[in-house]
Amino acid sequence: MYRREDIRISPSILAADFLNLGAELKSVDNADFIHYDVMDGDFVPNISFGPGILRTVKRGTDLPVDVHMMVSNPDEVFRDYLDAGADVLTFHMETAKHAHRMVDEIHKRRRRAAVAINPGTSVASLDAIIDYLDMVLVMSVNPGFSGQKFIEHTYAQLNKLAALCQSHSVRPMIEIDGGISAANAEQVVAAGANVLVGGSAVFDAPDHAQAVEDMRDAGRRGLLRRA
Ligand code: DX5
Ligand code: ZN
Repeated sequence: MYRREDIRISPSILAADFLNLGAELKSVDNADFIHYDVMDGDFVPNISFGPGILRTVKRGTDLPVDVHMMVSNPDEVFRDYLDAGADVLTFHMETAKHAHRMVDEIHKRRRRAAVAINPGTSVASLDAIIDYLDMVLVMSVNPGFSGQKFIEHTYAQLNKLAALCQSHSVRPMIEIDGGISAANAEQVVAAGANVLVGGSAVFDAPDHAQAVEDMRDAGRRGLLRRA
């Protein structure tokens, strides 16, 4: 069980060694989610994996899988990821034709629904959907690759999101994705994040489980800094 507010760590297997995917998944079984990055080569300049590999990943972990769809046509493909076992399903606000309809259908399937925004997308674009979300994903790099540098403007995005949530009296999980490590986890949590994605910070570390714990410890220090 989680405390009312705790830090959750979501290792991104985009940075894992695909030749040893089963062992890589087991190496982070102390995390809270597995982050699964879907890239279509259109919305983002990279191609990763789709629903087929998601089924394989689901067989390799007991953790809930947090699916981040970076695709141009989420309204057309999101059901494929529900069918394949996504536990949390995230689509990008920039791509959604009917955001509320997708969220509704995700909930009818008893999964959690989330919306992501790119670094250049206004937090205000979430105003009409925020009441219905289990989680908001704030991108802290331009999506497409792991190992990129954290964009400092993200703190302004997190501050605006905290204000939006407060004005709506809602408390969705706030996931931060891109360039996160134990070095900045405290600061992003202090600014409102509570689900931390770690790609290279986890899978490039010599001890993956330790990297997860280090991120969580740093994040918990950030919780203490909140007013
Ligand atoms: C970026 C992906 C991220 C990425 C994170 O487009 O959405 O989830 O895998 O990798 P790091 O933590 O290395 O920036
Ligand atoms: Zn991601």
